[in-house]
Amino acid sequence: MIKDKINKELLPRHIAVIMDGNGRWAKKQGKNRIYGHQNGVDSVDRITEAAAELGIEYLTLYAFSTENWNRPQDEVNALMDLFVEAINANMEKLLANNVRLCVIGDHDRLPEKTRTNMQEAINKTNGSTGMTLVLAISYSSRWEILEAAKKIAADYKNGSVDLDGINEEYFASKLATGGMPDPDLLIRTSGELRISNFLMWQLSYSELYFTDVCWPEFKEQQFYEAILDYQSRERRFGKTSEQISK
Ligand code: IPE
Ligand code: IPE
Ligand code: MG
Repeated sequence: MIKDKINKELLPRHIAVIMDGNGRWAKKQGKNRIYGHQNGVDSVDRITEAAAELGIEYLTLYAFSTENWNRPQDEVNALMDLFVEAINANMEKLLANNVRLCVIGDHDRLPEKTRTNMQEAINKTNGSTGMTLVLAISYSSRWEILEAAKKIAADYKNGSVDLDGINEEYFASKLATGGMPDPDLLIRTSGELRISNFLMWQLSYSELYFTDVCWPEFKEQQFYEAILDYQSRERRFGKTSEQISK
């Protein structure tokens, strides 16, 4: 079994996923885009469970970008309802798997119902001590970096930081992902080769993995393949290969 080939000593601590291709997958079956999103929920479930079981510490899923607000209103509404439904339907499983839920993004833009429901779900999983599942909803990296810049400007203005204090660690702490390790592995499904405004600061040294498989067809097997591919890479962080293998 492919899962048994995974080296437990070399697991990525944090995996981030751009879940893409729901619409195209649905179209191929002659269905509408929303059908694709509904089918994507099963992949979310299964990848979350597989990651928690393997011992991944953080799993961040890009569910809705700031730019996705520009989609047709009926698709946006369907997605907002789907987030609520999917979170509610999976609450017991999240708790059983000891998963702590967390969300990042511009939540002032979310409908009241989605926002309250997400907050309730976060509160319910607050006691979990296993994997952290981060949902990026109404998220974009430029939004996040601008928000961080504003917080830093405020800190500087009130004297709680001086210019020398604005270092990488401090800057990172002001991002929505403050306190989390950077992703070791980024997976994007559906064959698109871009970042689409996702975690631009945090992905600086992540290993990138692209697959043609669309998100509704990305299941455990495909997830394990991505991790195995990651484990075959040499991460040098600017050093030479000789320095790394010492
Ligand atoms: C990803 O699938 C889900 C969201 C962005 C919400 P898409 O809806 O982008 O599907 P494609 O890329 O159009 O096939
Ligand atoms: C990125 O997918 C956002 C999410 C997966 C939520 P998109 O489908 O919106 O990205 P582009 O527009 O193809 O770059
Ligand atoms: Mg897409």
